[in-house]
Amino acid sequence: MKSYFVTGTDTGVGKTAITGAIAWVLRKRGIDVGVMKPIATGVGQKGRFRSEDVAVLHEAALTNDDEKTINPVFLPLPVSPYDASKALGIKIDMKMILERYKYLVKSHQVVLVEGIGGIMTPITRDFFVADMIKQMNLETIVVTRSTLGTINHTIMTIEMCKKYQIPVKGLVINYFDEKGGPAEQNAPSTLHEVTGLPILGIIPFVKNYQKPEIMADLVEKNMNINELIS
Ligand SMILES: Nc1ncnc2c1ncn2[C@@H]1O[C@H](COP(=O)(O)OP(=O)(O)OP(=O)(O)O)[C@@H](O)[C@H]1O
Ligand SMILES: [Mg+2]
Repeated sequence: MKSYFVTGTDTGVGKTAITGAIAWVLRKRGIDVGVMKPIATGVGQKGRFRSEDVAVLHEAALTNDDEKTINPVFLPLPVSPYDASKALGIKIDMKMILERYKYLVKSHQVVLVEGIGGIMTPITRDFFVADMIKQMNLETIVVTRSTLGTINHTIMTIEMCKKYQIPVKGLVINYFDEKGGPAEQNAPSTLHEVTGLPILGIIPFVKNYQKPEIMADLVEKNMNINELIS
């Protein structure tokens, strides 16, 4: 079965919601799915996991992996990893991250890795999320918005994937509102046309979204999960 790196055209596009939902669906199908958020930044929260993203991913996959394996690096500042590491005087240890990633790959049938920010989010001054994807040697799924502006962001992301020779499985279009304006209505077909990539799923905007199960239902209905992992 195949593992994936889930990236996005920007922060807040729904990487965690979609990655968690895919993990949820796979677990419900009896597949042993591991999740990873190699680097998280943010204000942090109380509880088992400092990062909210990690808590969401763990709730979906329900693995026995501990926090330092699922999320080797947590930097308590809501900025890029590079900025956070500079401000906190911490060096991000990519070797350690890759060792934990390799452990997860050995321990699970499928591993879903959520990136941070977008593909060119800096981890160090000259090492980006794209470099991390290359080191993990993973195919990526790109989560993108359906709203005005998404064509530009999506093309830029895909062009960088080409530059780095990162294989892209396809796009997941999130926050789709069927009553949206013409730009939104056209987004799925235009994004497919301009990138040449398959649209793996179109996930609607959910009002008052709270429960990850709702997103899992939508992913089940709107994505071909079997095709993804076969
Ligand atoms: N289809 C949707 N409908 C409604 N709300 C959504 C949808 N997808 C995601 N959200 C909500 O939007 C917010 C941002 O989503 P999410 O955290 O998944 O983005 P992200 O790309 O992982 O962000 P980050 O860059 O911070 O990791 C979250 O509060 C999430 O619950
Ligand atoms: Mg996230």
